[in-house]
Amino acid sequence: MRQKLVAGNWKMNGSRASIKALLDGLKQGIAAVESAEVAVCAPYVYLGDVEQQLQGTPIVWGAQNLSTEASGAFTGEIAASMLQEFGCKYVIVGHSERRALYGEDDALVAKKYAVARAAGLKPILCVGEMLEDREAGTTEAVVARQLDALIDAEGVAALADGVIAYEPVWAIGTGKTASPEQAQEVHQFIRQRIAERDASVAEKVQILYGGSMNAGNAAELLAQSDIDGGLIGGASLKPDDFLTICRAAG
Ligand code: 13P
Repeated sequence: MRQKLVAGNWKMNGSRASIKALLDGLKQGIAAVESAEVAVCAPYVYLGDVEQQLQGTPIVWGAQNLSTEASGAFTGEIAASMLQEFGCKYVIVGHSERRALYGEDDALVAKKYAVARAAGLKPILCVGEMLEDREAGTTEAVVARQLDALIDAEGVAALADGVIAYEPVWAIGTGKTASPEQAQEVHQFIRQRIAERDASVAEKVQILYGGSMNAGNAAELLAQSDIDGGLIGGASLKPDDFLTICRAAG
């Protein structure tokens, strides 16, 4: 049985005060989450605060991006070792916003994934099609390309200790969620594609769904056999909603 993981992606939201309030709320409610792992992915500058507030709790934390470089003259970048120093367990790589707005391509995302792993972080690899892909019937081709870029560069074993998040771009921040059947279909496709290379890795890898998952729709998404958790944007900023999703995960 794969453990479920519910991770909040706060994106570029919050302040020291709002994050304190959010984490106070999560800490109060976390005892009611029985078996799922709960994580929050914070903006870099708040990672120190998050570490201080979550240390000793069951909630783990991570970042939303990282540099491919170890150190040096890379103004504005953050290295994997820095994230590790602040106690991060996870780091998101290849989020569609980074692909679309900052030009990150499959090769760069694969490199980030590898660098994160090498530093002992667990990368959360985001994949997902755009609306025009879905309408053109190329969802599987797009997701396969994104997945294969990593497998070809790093080997399928690289997925054994990582996490995949299927995030259909048309569902992100739009209030439009993939139906449980639509999501399950792609999750199953992803697992099947990995199984073609290595069945035991496919059985182990956690595949999260992301895209307008909320307190109302989480339970039926999480009930699908290949959905191992969620990567939550907007709803992760509201402690009650986020905790409802976490409880739905088990
Ligand atoms: P929303 O939950 O706001 O749609 O965002 C999903 C997401 O992008 C998580 O990474």
